[in-house]
Amino acid sequence: MRTKKNNELRIENVNEIVTLVGWCSKKRNLGGLLFIDLRDRYGIVQLVIKPDNPVYPTALEIKNEYVLKATGKVVERESKNPNLPTGDIEVEVSELVILNPALNPPLLIQDQTDALEDTRMKYRYLDLRRPIMQKNLILRHKTVMAVRKFLDSADFIEIETPYLGKSTPEGARDFLVPSRLYHGSFYALPQSPQMYKQLLMVAGFERYFQIAKCFRDEDLRADRQLEFTQIDLEMSFIEEEDIYDLVEKMLKCVWKETLNMDIKTPFIRLDYDEAMNKYGSDKPDTRFEMYLQDFTNWASEVDFVIFKNQILAHNNIKGIIVKNGGSKYSRKEIDRLTELAKKYHASGLAWLKYEQNNFTGSIAKFLNEKNMKTLIEEYQIVDDDLILFVADRLEVCNFALGALRSQIAKEMNLIDTSKFNFLWVVNWPLFEYSEEEKRYVAAHHPFTSPKIGDEDLMLTDPAKCRARAYDIVLNGYELGGGSIRIHDQNTQAKMFKAIGLSDEEVKKQFSFFVDALKYGTPPHGGLAIGLDRLVMLLTGNNNLREVIAFPKAASAKCPMSDAPTPVSKQQLDELGLKFDK
Ligand code: AMO
Repeated sequence: MRTKKNNELRIENVNEIVTLVGWCSKKRNLGGLLFIDLRDRYGIVQLVIKPDNPVYPTALEIKNEYVLKATGKVVERESKNPNLPTGDIEVEVSELVILNPALNPPLLIQDQTDALEDTRMKYRYLDLRRPIMQKNLILRHKTVMAVRKFLDSADFIEIETPYLGKSTPEGARDFLVPSRLYHGSFYALPQSPQMYKQLLMVAGFERYFQIAKCFRDEDLRADRQLEFTQIDLEMSFIEEEDIYDLVEKMLKCVWKETLNMDIKTPFIRLDYDEAMNKYGSDKPDTRFEMYLQDFTNWASEVDFVIFKNQILAHNNIKGIIVKNGGSKYSRKEIDRLTELAKKYHASGLAWLKYEQNNFTGSIAKFLNEKNMKTLIEEYQIVDDDLILFVADRLEVCNFALGALRSQIAKEMNLIDTSKFNFLWVVNWPLFEYSEEEKRYVAAHHPFTSPKIGDEDLMLTDPAKCRARAYDIVLNGYELGGGSIRIHDQNTQAKMFKAIGLSDEEVKKQFSFFVDALKYGTPPHGGLAIGLDRLVMLLTGNNNLREVIAFPKAASAKCPMSDAPTPVSKQQLDELGLKFDK
């Protein structure tokens, strides 16, 4: 239909006759002269139609988002637009066809739209017509292409695994699909292809990958969707270093192909404990400092009963020093920060400001001269510092201060958003204690190997047992995670025992998998990167919805199709399902 794309025409094309297609992005009538911005996927070009032109009456009918085909001569513009690649020229139309009229769109089809989230989601096909959204999805495509190309060249084989399967133990709630043929039985949609990819290693493929759809029925957040995509991979006869090296090379390739940017490898590695103690997070944002500091010794000298009691109970008082925070945060603002700390189970937030050689704040009256002096000297306190303290169990101190650290950094613009700070968080605990279930559960998933030398701790001291697990973190987001898997049955049996799974339960849930391990399983390991999160960060967004074509709203609904919707009685009957009203 077309001879040129709408971003292609330049001054060199003047006098050429071209045929163009696209949508009317904007129409202006300047003293009878009609200008139409014609937009296609590639860009915008200006059409011009004079009143004496035979196509003028057709042009008058055109409204925003009409679909058009125009033929005409390329001419040099009188007033050029330096902001547009085609801004030096315009096309004097000689033939004009309205291929399709359009209703008045309920949102502005421009990068800067005034539409509310609900409208954008309801009319997603129009939202996706906005150039910025097309750019995001094109970058997503480029990312996937770069990954495929890279992994293919590294000898990986792309293999699809089923959507209709058995529950996989990633720790979230399953989406279930009722079986029509076996009433009362359900398929589970995969939370990840974890067991399948391990079975492919048993099968001898050695290097597998998949751009895999995963389904997890959990509460939505800006960085969490019900269905999302992983770059999922698994390798045999490897160790941690092989995975780190491969993934770093893959991401290097992605950054080069999508942003034409060189990222520095190898990535920093941080012990899980250090991440927690220094940043208060297992996915630390290292683009700014404001490290968590230990104030226990100093606080033990302060005559403040809450500190004294907390030291007796937990022996932990930690804090962060907010440079220039004294003048930034009023008492009321600190109350707001206190509420945030409480969300992370801190019982309170003590604070001090140092201004004009003087301490003020909630615990200022308990400080003696010596307390002040040591505080200033040991922690290099200077004018306008704000110090926030949490006294509690170590995990509470870390998580609460970690959350404050991130929030304050955002509020004080401490984050250099042009940076991409990658790191590996390594040496994770193998188990975490579930207060709810009163037992240890697998911190990653139950096929993760214990650290070499920690095998005995699995049953004797699970809290101390470390895992051969790693997460890749980018700018404070968990980008991906994986582990070296258990490949021998004894360790796997120990794992199930440690998390309190009886033989019966193991048989019911994973007998096919455990059986497979008996048939010559190679040492193997892998990792999955969240593709949506990866593209979100590549495009500088902070919500997955900006990089997924048809995402769910925060309500877990699709405002466009209204899914989920009730189904007919006949469908329910076929599935043998009945609901109480
Ligand atoms: P994990 O559960 O850590 O590991 O998931 C890997 C990565 O997938 C992304 N992700 C999500 N993205 C969007 N919405 C969600 N609800 C969501 N949940 C997870 C994250 C995360 O880092 N089978 C293991 C991997 C392995 O061990 O090889 C797994 O799924 O970016």
